[in-house]
Amino acid sequence: MTTSIQIKSLDDYQRVYRYSLEKNEEFWDNIAKNQLHWRKPWSRVSQCDYLTGHVSWYLGAELNVAENCVDRHVHAGKGSKKALIWVGNEPGEEKTFTFQQVYEEVCRIAHALEALGIKKGDRVGLYLPNIPELAFSMLACARIGAIHSVIFGGFSAHSIQSRMNDCGAKLIITSNGVYRGEKWIDLKTNVDEAIAIGCSTIANVLVIPHRSQSRWERQLRDLNWNEVLQPFKPHTAPSHLSEDPLFILYTSGSTGKPKGVLHTMGGYLTYTSYSHQLVFQPQDSDVYFCTADLGWITGHSYLLYGPLANGVTTVMYEGVPQYPTASRLWEITDQHSVNILYTAPTAIRTLASLGDEPVVKTSRKTLRTLGTVGEPINPEAWRWYSSVVGEDRCPIVDTWWQTETGGILISPLAGITPTQPGCATLPLPGIEPKIINESGEALKGDGQGALVIARSWPGQMRGVYGDPEKFFDTYFRQYPGNYSTGDGARRDSENNYWILGRMDDVIKISGHRLGTAEIESACVLHSDVVESAAIGVHDDITGEALHLFVVVKSGAPETPDLAKALIQLIRKEVGPLASPKKIHFVPGLPKTRSGKIMRRILKKLAVQEFSDLGDISTLAEPSVIELIKKAVITER
Ligand code: PRX
Repeated sequence: MTTSIQIKSLDDYQRVYRYSLEKNEEFWDNIAKNQLHWRKPWSRVSQCDYLTGHVSWYLGAELNVAENCVDRHVHAGKGSKKALIWVGNEPGEEKTFTFQQVYEEVCRIAHALEALGIKKGDRVGLYLPNIPELAFSMLACARIGAIHSVIFGGFSAHSIQSRMNDCGAKLIITSNGVYRGEKWIDLKTNVDEAIAIGCSTIANVLVIPHRSQSRWERQLRDLNWNEVLQPFKPHTAPSHLSEDPLFILYTSGSTGKPKGVLHTMGGYLTYTSYSHQLVFQPQDSDVYFCTADLGWITGHSYLLYGPLANGVTTVMYEGVPQYPTASRLWEITDQHSVNILYTAPTAIRTLASLGDEPVVKTSRKTLRTLGTVGEPINPEAWRWYSSVVGEDRCPIVDTWWQTETGGILISPLAGITPTQPGCATLPLPGIEPKIINESGEALKGDGQGALVIARSWPGQMRGVYGDPEKFFDTYFRQYPGNYSTGDGARRDSENNYWILGRMDDVIKISGHRLGTAEIESACVLHSDVVESAAIGVHDDITGEALHLFVVVKSGAPETPDLAKALIQLIRKEVGPLASPKKIHFVPGLPKTRSGKIMRRILKKLAVQEFSDLGDISTLAEPSVIELIKKAVITER
């Protein structure tokens, strides 16, 4: 494992942090040299300008991402070390791959992709379960310079179609389907439907027969993985530029359709390996288990790229935390002697709600560090994680970051930074957060406001695929000279950051990110609907739950059947993960005079909190409030 900077105490951290900002270029120059194997050095560390929205790192340098994650560990004599432990949905289903075996699988896929005519720069869609073939396909794309775009299995045919068309993918790799818990998801049928609606750039669909008991209907463009993949032959990893694209991952924002967040090779891998090492402090013999799906950024950065670049054994789990019992994560932990566990607050709250017994009956003695990510963790869940799961001996790292940031920006360093429930604590060296108040001024000392990042770091997204203007408008326009995160935060007198959650129209349900606009535009496709407003309402387990306020056309029935039809429509257009928990039929929506929906008011009305609606003086039609109140009070 590479060790680029030594931080073993809070004093070390403070010293390195100061140095990282004072000698920023030198700092990132050192980190990149130590983390990765570069084939050609950079001519310049970075060239970034937030006033124009331009970000690039390690200019002119060359490397191969797959070689860094796999080949170099084989060359360093670690070929027989376990690289990937895969745990299937059903207990007892397991496969282990050494670095040598991963190397061989990645070479086989790289050859197969090339034989299918996939070249550097081509886009490849991956709509797959959390299985080893997905990890290896990502690495194979990285190896040949193809740009992967993974789509989470919870998204619908329509979502696949819009993503594949947006990036112009040539090939989709999918599988016949997947069990997540007891639920069967027919991935292949969703891909067929996406293509039937129209994916003109897709030439082939490569199908992995993952569950052999399930048949799939073979179309003309379909290829069978088992027929396409040939026996192992070494594959020479070509050199790519640091700024060559590595992947596009779609994520929801405040407005419009999900954006294709673009990450590039050198900076992303430098930052994910650096932050993985610093935050989790893995040792060479450690087993590290991130429960995320590779369809999300956490899977990309901290299930695959970060740990493998660091030569750490990574565990990949296909199923859900409570299947078949609430002990599953702890059984996997014991079976594979997991030292570091990284999961999401929703999983922690779900398991906590099922009681201590499923946890305490397992040993968990190998656990040393516990991580959390994706949404604010409430102090109660934090304490349960710390005391019941970690028996008060494992530090909790509450890691704050985003799809756009590529890696963790604010987090305790395991065993080094003092922690408090619900506090993301301190920025990683090299990261300069600021808090901006309502008048647009950066606060000094403690205070609360918009969280921005004042200077670039290597893992920062490079653009919105195909839409440079959107990149600038979304992230750099509002607070000139800063990257705008969309989150609110509070900084205390000891410089600790407390993340308050999104300040924009992004909702987090079970840590999954959804934009209100995409849900509302799906809803209004129904011929009975005039307009709608989506909001997130507090939920004890999922953090937020989706509520939808719907205005129907005059004469249209406000019936449970219509509510059901709207839920079906949203599941079809966006995916099952966007299912509303509650639909409120209302006669109108609270809007400002410029037509903006005042969601803050709807959030209160949804839970019948009528007493303090805050400032309603900017409402175009204040009388609508009484009408909505009446509607929610009388709803069944
Ligand atoms: O609101 C923050 C929340 O998740 C958002 C980013 O979502 P996404 O791009 O899907 O990435 C999730 C995985 C990194 C952020 O803007 N968020 C993420 N981590 C935390 C968090 N909120 C509070 N505490 C966290 N640790």
